[in-house]
Amino acid sequence: MTETDTGWQQRLASLITTLVDAGDLRSKEWIEAFTATPRHVFTPQVTLTTGQGYRQISGADPAEADEWLSMVYSDDSLVTQDKPHAAGHTLPGGQPLRVPTSSSTMPSLMARMLEALDVHDGQRVLEIGTGTGYNAALLSHCLGEANVVSIDLDPGLVEKAQQRLASLGYHPTLIAGDGATGAVEHGPYDRIIATAAVPEIPLSWIEQLAPGGKILANLRGDLAGGTLCLLAKDGLDDEVIGPILPIGGHFMWLRPEPDDPHRPHEHASAPQRGTISRTTTRVDPTGIPVDDEGFRFLLQLQLHGTRSLHLGPAFDPNIRDERKAVIVTAADGSHAEAFARPELDGTYQITQSGPRRLWDTVEATRSLFDDLNQPTPDKFGVVANDSTQFVWFGNDDNWHRWPLPLV
Ligand SMILES: C[S@@+](CC[C@H](N)C(=O)[O-])C[C@H]1O[C@@H](n2cnc3c(N)ncnc32)[C@H](O)[C@@H]1O
Repeated sequence: MTETDTGWQQRLASLITTLVDAGDLRSKEWIEAFTATPRHVFTPQVTLTTGQGYRQISGADPAEADEWLSMVYSDDSLVTQDKPHAAGHTLPGGQPLRVPTSSSTMPSLMARMLEALDVHDGQRVLEIGTGTGYNAALLSHCLGEANVVSIDLDPGLVEKAQQRLASLGYHPTLIAGDGATGAVEHGPYDRIIATAAVPEIPLSWIEQLAPGGKILANLRGDLAGGTLCLLAKDGLDDEVIGPILPIGGHFMWLRPEPDDPHRPHEHASAPQRGTISRTTTRVDPTGIPVDDEGFRFLLQLQLHGTRSLHLGPAFDPNIRDERKAVIVTAADGSHAEAFARPELDGTYQITQSGPRRLWDTVEATRSLFDDLNQPTPDKFGVVANDSTQFVWFGNDDNWHRWPLPLV
C-alpha cells in the first residue's frame, strides 16, 4: 500500500471538519459531495512557488508523496498549470515569472460558492472553467452527471479532467471551447458557475439561463478582484440582477487564448506620459486607503481602466531623489504621484501626466467613499442585460451607478 492509498481519507476528513467548523460547508448535500470526492485524483502534480522559484510536487514520486498529500488536503488553491509572463518579468531570484493558467480552487472558496449557488435536485448547471475537474465531480455527485456541463478553453485540461472524472464513475458533459460563449447546445441552465473571472457578464450566459436561473461569477478588475456576484434572472427577459456577495473570491481571468495567460488588455503597453503637471493638495496622501478592498473597488468604478494603486517610492524631480508617494496608473498612460511628506506650508506635491488627471479622481473618490460610509464591495450590486451593464449602490430612492466592464 502506498502513502496515497492509506493517507488521504484521514486528511480529507480533517479538511472537511475545518470547512464545516469555519461555516464554509453547511449543507448535508455538499458535505456528502466533498466527503465522497478525493481531491488528489484531480491534482496529481502541483506547482509550489518558493523563495527560489518554482517546484513541481508529484504524487507519483514516493519521496514527495507525503508533502503532496498535505498540500492537496490543505485549504489552499493549487497551481496545476502555468505559462511565462508575457512581459518577461522575473522573480527576485532572476527566474522568469510564471502566470497560472489552471488551478484547483481553494476548497473553502469552492464550498462557499457551491453553498451560495443554491442548487436543487434536477437542476442543470454549466460550469465555466473545468480545470482539474474537481468541481465538476462535486457537482456531478450532488446533481447527477446528466445535469452537469463544464467547459474549458484548454483541450488538454478537458481531456485529463474527463479521464479523472471517469475513474470515479462520473461522465458529465465536458466541452473544449471558449466559456465566454457558454454552451448553448446543452442549455438552458438553472445555474451558471464561473471559476474564471470576467470584467463584465457575457451576454451568452444571460441568454442561456432559464427563467429563475442564477449566475455566480467573479467580477474582476485590475484594482479589486475578489468580488463574487450572484445574479438572478427573474422573468423571461434577458436580464440578471443581484448583489455582490459578502464572500470574497479571486479567480484567474477568463482568457481568449489557451496558451496566453493574459487577457488582451494586459498586453496593451501604456502610451508615453507626455507633459507632467505639478500641483499641490491639502489632502494627506497617506490617508488614502490604498489597501482597502472597498476603496479599491469604488476607485475602479470611478476611474475606468485603472491598472494600479499603491504606496511606494517615486522619483521626485524637485529633489532628484525618491520619496514615498501614492502612485496611481491607468491603461491609457495616465499617471499620478502624490508625495507623502508635507511641504512647509502643509500642502503635498502632486505630479500628474497623461490624458486624465487621476489624482483628482482619487481625492473625489476618497470623499465619496466616506459619504457612502466606507462600503465594502458587498454593499454594491450588478445589473446586466442585452443593452447595458452596470454596478449599483444604494436603493431606488438614492442610488449611484457605474458602467461595466471593469477593465
Ligand atoms: C481556477 S481554474 C478552474 C478550477 C476548476 N473549476 C477546478 O475545479 O479545478 C480556471 C480555469 O478556467 C479556464 N479558462 C480560462 N479562460 C477560459 C475560457 N475563455 N473559457 C473556458 N475556460 C477558461 C482555465 O483554463 C482554467 O482551467
